[in-house]
Amino acid sequence: MQKGKLSPVLKWAGGKTQLLDHIAGTMPAAYRRYYEPFVGGGAALFGLTPARASVNDRNEPLMNLYAQIRDSVEGVIERVRELDAAPCGKTSYYALRERYNEKVAARAFDAECAALMIWINKHCYNGLYRVNRKGRFNVPYNNRTGGKSVQESNLRAISDYLRTSDVTLTCLDFEEACAGVSAGDFVYFDSPYVPESPTASFTDYTTGGFSPADHERLAALFRRLDRIGAKVMLSNSDVPLVRSLYAGYRAQVLDARRQINRDARKRTGREVLITNYGP
Ligand SMILES: C[S@@+](CC[C@H](N)C(=O)[O-])C[C@H]1O[C@@H](n2cnc3c(N)ncnc32)[C@H](O)[C@@H]1O
Repeated sequence: MQKGKLSPVLKWAGGKTQLLDHIAGTMPAAYRRYYEPFVGGGAALFGLTPARASVNDRNEPLMNLYAQIRDSVEGVIERVRELDAAPCGKTSYYALRERYNEKVAARAFDAECAALMIWINKHCYNGLYRVNRKGRFNVPYNNRTGGKSVQESNLRAISDYLRTSDVTLTCLDFEEACAGVSAGDFVYFDSPYVPESPTASFTDYTTGGFSPADHERLAALFRRLDRIGAKVMLSNSDVPLVRSLYAGYRAQVLDARRQINRDARKRTGREVLITNYGP
């Protein structure tokens, strides 16, 4: 374990910072390897800093960001400094968003692409990451005009953690990301949530979103991993579909404030933590 907690680099829909203590308290006391197939902003990973971890997300620029922080942290910091130093307003935000989309379309995954992702996350509406059908990031400007986009010491500490621990980074579908799981490993699934209502939920982190069939695939994988002797924990919204998909497993209800919802009245979703093991 790393000394001191690391913090997520990005604000991410469904980020687990608020639930971290609860998640940490529900984890098994001992396990071999930590798997997080939907890492997103990495609140759990960076809060827990497991010594052996397989970390995955299907969002390619996001996994490039973590790889760049690991391999070229000073290059990322330098480019974020340059972006922060330039005058910022509506025109520059949309120009930089365009540059980022061009780089992603060309699969030019480098330190600049990582720095743009960090800078845009701090200057886009609500820190949301949303793409359209063509995979282009389309969140509007939040009108912020200055300030630092990154805590450099945190970025360096994350880089140290990723370089000095046994952490692998992949950009695969969650099923493939779990191909190496074996008995005694611990898997934490934090997939896009089942919508609580047709308008209340957000799943467009990647092109294509996350469908009911994906939730069924995930539940089938949960059962397979259970059968091979892995310890498995999953968070989702507390809705009938989730209760029926995971019937027979332990379920703890949590209260979570939904940060990403524009309407404060809709920010009080109940979440559930499903585990295949006891306290
Ligand atoms: C709820 S978020 C995870 C939030 C994360 N726990 C945090 O603290 O920020 C879900 C993540 O699943 C990823 N994702 C969506 N579909 C996926 C798939 N089929 N396989 C792997 N990752 C996927 C999204 O890119 C998104 O980052």
